[in-house]
Amino acid sequence: MRLEGKVAIITGAGSGQGKASAKLFAKEGAKVVIAEWNEEAGKRMEQEIVDAGNEAVFIQTDISDESNVTLLVDQVVDMYGRIDILFNNAGIGFSSSSKYKMAPLLETPLKDWNDILGINLNGAYLMSKYVLPVMIKQKSGNIVNNSSLNGVLGVTGADAYTAAKGGVVALTRVMAVDYGKYNIRVNCICPGAIDTPMIADALKNPEVSKNYEAGPLGRVGKPEEIAYAALFLASDESSYVTGLIMPVDGGWSVV
Ligand SMILES: NC(=O)c1ccc[n+]([C@@H]2O[C@H](COP(=O)([O-])OP(=O)(O)OC[C@H]3O[C@@H](n4cnc5c(N)ncnc54)[C@H](O)[C@@H]3O)[C@@H](O)[C@H]2O)c1
Repeated sequence: MRLEGKVAIITGAGSGQGKASAKLFAKEGAKVVIAEWNEEAGKRMEQEIVDAGNEAVFIQTDISDESNVTLLVDQVVDMYGRIDILFNNAGIGFSSSSKYKMAPLLETPLKDWNDILGINLNGAYLMSKYVLPVMIKQKSGNIVNNSSLNGVLGVTGADAYTAAKGGVVALTRVMAVDYGKYNIRVNCICPGAIDTPMIADALKNPEVSKNYEAGPLGRVGKPEEIAYAALFLASDESSYVTGLIMPVDGGWSVV
């Protein structure tokens, strides 16, 4: 019970890494708020956690929409009176079902650039902007951001995504500096390739999957392996850790 009694908002908890984290956080005693824009996936996740005897509530949210975010935060405060953990996890990326073009800068239309930054960077900004005052008031809080190796390396071919994830890394550092005095910690995970619906199509391409498996551990990661990293950062076990940019990538970035 590493998160006993904590109120934890997880964005994008209907799929992949967010889903694995929601299940793990709930198992570890957190009251999990599933902030997800996909209604079916959010409801399913809520039911799964409740069926396992743990606590969760789904609140349909588009993290790129300010009024959605304020409504979410108000509802959570009404329900629980506090917010201990925010996992800014939701993002859009590489799947072919995504309507956004992942491409180098010259081939990226402005609309796609704006939409990708609007979710992957502005979403983390908006969620933090409305959750931080609650944490400041209670003089404690813990924010974990989900960036990507794209945020710290010159990974080509998805320049809007890469710029957004770089923004999340920079935002993590500055938030850690600005809000540490309120006993708020802010850390960031940079996953390597993780086997979720986001990269399911890319993994079908043997050249791409060979590249994803090129790290020392020779395989892609599992969503649960990100969830455990998030759990460590979200729990009191990491109480002296803030501003950390943590790759969880099977060593891909050190080769
Ligand atoms: N899978 C990877 O290889 C990989 C690698 C590095 C970083 N990441 C990052 O990890 C995070 C989680 O991705 P994943 O791999 O679990 O992908 P995923 O597609 O399985 O899950 C993303 C979830 O976010 C939700 N979402 C998207 N936009 C939203 C919005 N505007 N409002 C609310 N919910 C929204 C989706 O509905 C989905 O449930 C993302 O930020 C992604 O960029 C993924």
